[in-house]
Parts: sequence; structure tokens; C-alpha cells
Amino acid sequence: MAQLNILLFGIGKIGSTFVNKYIERQEEIAAQKGIKLHLGAIANSKFVFWAASESPNKQWIADLENYQKPYKLENVVHKFQSLYGENLVAVDATADEHLAQHYPFLIESGFHIVSANKTANVQPIDFHIGLRNLLKENQKKFFYETHVGAGLPVLETLRRLYQSGDEVTRVRGVFSGSLSYIFNTFSEENKSFSQVLDEAEKLGLTEPDPRTDLSGIDVARKLLIIARELGIHKELNAVEVESLLPKKLNGHTTLHQFKSRIKELDSLYQSRKRELKKDEVFRYVGEWDLKSKTLKVRLQTFPKEHTLGYISGTENVFEIYTKSYQPEPLVIKGSGAGLDVTSNGLLRDVLKIAEFVPSTVV
Ligand SMILES: NC(=O)c1ccc[n+]([C@@H]2O[C@H](COP(=O)([O-])OP(=O)(O)OC[C@H]3O[C@@H](n4cnc5c(N)ncnc54)[C@H](OP(=O)(O)O)[C@@H]3O)[C@@H](O)[C@H]2O)c1
Repeated sequence: MAQLNILLFGIGKIGSTFVNKYIERQEEIAAQKGIKLHLGAIANSKFVFWAASESPNKQWIADLENYQKPYKLENVVHKFQSLYGENLVAVDATADEHLAQHYPFLIESGFHIVSANKTANVQPIDFHIGLRNLLKENQKKFFYETHVGAGLPVLETLRRLYQSGDEVTRVRGVFSGSLSYIFNTFSEENKSFSQVLDEAEKLGLTEPDPRTDLSGIDVARKLLIIARELGIHKELNAVEVESLLPKKLNGHTTLHQFKSRIKELDSLYQSRKRELKKDEVFRYVGEWDLKSKTLKVRLQTFPKEHTLGYISGTENVFEIYTKSYQPEPLVIKGSGAGLDVTSNGLLRDVLKIAEFVPSTVV
């Protein structure tokens, strides 16, 4: 049986759902897959909690040595390494770019990485390539399927197409579960834009700061991650983005100020809604095209019966055109956000690590 020793960063919405799934499924995974999962420590931005015992009946103790603000990543990593030795997995359920920039340190400290933190895959291209080289040198794995499409097998599919030589010529779609929900609801229901945005936030669909969704940066990141998966070495600033926020609400406002002024968006979107034709819906679309070599993110309208129009709730849809899949694309569609699908996706990525680690008798 292989034992995976997990160090979890982030106990927010995704991280805590991941912990619940781990507790619920730990025994079944050991019995059915022969993989023993051991969540050794959990960290938020300020504190680290260590598992008091290996029993599935989890009790956690705060680490008083590191009980400082902020704790030192190096101390936690070295302590974890000396406690568990091998088969170490760092799970990043934060949105923290600083942590993503420490992945090389984690890899060199013996960790495989599973990440929901997209900032890790949009770093400057030298870092991106360096990370892949470091993974090879250290024989470590980095899985991040949840970066695009939450639990949907988008990156895996693109990787397989790319590796099989079936040239991908265009990828287009609705990549944001939160914006999908927002525009599905706003296009079809008689609610103000701020009301719909508030609902999406309460459902845990938006990013920790909803401006990450509305500025288009989240979709731009996903589009860049898709492009890089296809061997295109572009930077984030190469993505042409139509922001959903007017300048006065993006940029210099704090999150608190932004939330207090959210109603200012209502008149803007109400007037755009008046321009919608019958049976048309808004879609915030990301598109990469081989011919024009462009990466674009913009608000568009589609007939409801179009592949990109025919989605509901938090669904994402990805049209993938290749030499074999044209003129009709390969389509991947399904729920593209949410605590359940994302934390399941993280757990699946953790389980994939077990295929690459030595078995230990436990
Ligand atoms: N929601 C979805 O459907 C979805 C889908 C795919 C991917 N994701 C990604 O999942 C990630 C987590 O999202 P979320 O909604 O769970 O966010 P969240 O509720 O805001 O939680 C973020 C957590 O990260 C912690 N954190 C921040 N910096 C840290 C650091 N340096 N070390 C350790 N912990 C740190 C925070 O701790 P404090 O509380 O101490 O600040 C908090 O516990 C994001 O990257 C998001 O893009 C979400």
C-alpha cells in the first residue's frame, strides 16, 4: 500500500471541503485503491495545525512553535519532511501567488504538488519552464487539473491531443463557472446584476475577490494555462481582455469599497441587456486561435441554441478544434465551479500521485 503524506495550504471554501472529503473517503480509498492518505498538517495564512494522531478520527493541534504571524514556510516544510520522510504531497488550495512562487522550494524539499491555485501556471515563462525542468530533475509530479474547468478533464484532454500529434487549432468557450452562472441568470431572469453577483458569491462560486472574475483576469489566466499546455509560450499580458468592470471600480478601490459600490454596475448591464435580441444570451468567452495566434477574452452574445449559448447554472463549455475534430469541435461541457467538483478534482489529482510513489507497508 502507498501512503501519501499531505500538507494542505488553505482552509477556505475549497480547502475545508477537501478536508471533509478526505475524512469521509479515507477508509474507502484505502480499501478500494490501496492508497493510504494521511493529512499531516493544514495551514492557513497565519497558523499551522498538525495532526495529533494518524487515526481517521482527526484531532488537530496548533503548532505553538510556529504560532507567529506569518509562520515561516521553511520551518513547516522542514518539520513535515523530517516527520514523514517520503511520499510528500503539498496541496495548494489558496489563491496566493507568493506560495506559488515557492513551488521550486517545495519540489527541492521532496514534495509532489497538487494545486488549485492558478497563479502557479501564469508566472513568467522562464519560471514556468524552469519549474517543469525541476520536476523532471527531482522526479516529482505537479497536477493542476482544477486550474481550468474545476473538475472537468479539460487540460488532460488537451495534453493527450497535443501529445498524440492531433494539432489543436482553436479553443473557445465559457471557462468561468461564476461568470457562467452570473450571465445565465442575468440573461434569463429579472434580477439586477449586483443581485446576481451577490448570489454567486454566497454560493461560493466567485473567487475570494470577485474582481478577479469581473476584471477578466481569471478567464485570461485559464486561457493562458490552456495555451501553455499546447506549447505556446506566451505571457499573461498577451491576452486581450475586455474587462467587465468600469475603470472607476477596478484598480484603486479596496475590496470593501468595491463591495459597497457594487450597485453602480446595475445601470451599465441593464442597458446592455436591452440590446439583447430575443433568444440571445450573454457569454463571457475565452478564445485561442492558431491562425491569428491571438488570445482573447470578451463578452459576446450567442443564440440560446448555440453550443456556447446552451449551458445552464455554473456550466463551462469548451470547444476544441483539431485536425481531426473539425469542422465540428470536440466539446467538453459540465459544471465548471463549486466546492464539490473542485475538491473532488483536487482529491483525484492527489490519488494520481500514488501511481508514481513507492509502496510502503503500512
Ligand atoms: N471555487 C471554485 O469553484 C474554484 C474552482 C477552481 C479553483 N479554485 C481555486 O481554489 C483556490 C481556493 O479558493 P477558495 O474559494 O477556497 O478561497 P478562500 O475561501 O479565500 O480560501 C483561501 C485560503 O487560503 C489561505 N491562504 C492564503 N494564503 C496562504 C498561504 N500563503 N499559506 C497558506 N494558506 C494561505 C487563506 O487563509 P486565511 O484565511 O488565513 O487568509 C484561506 O484559508 C483559489 O485559488 C481558487 O481560484 C476555486
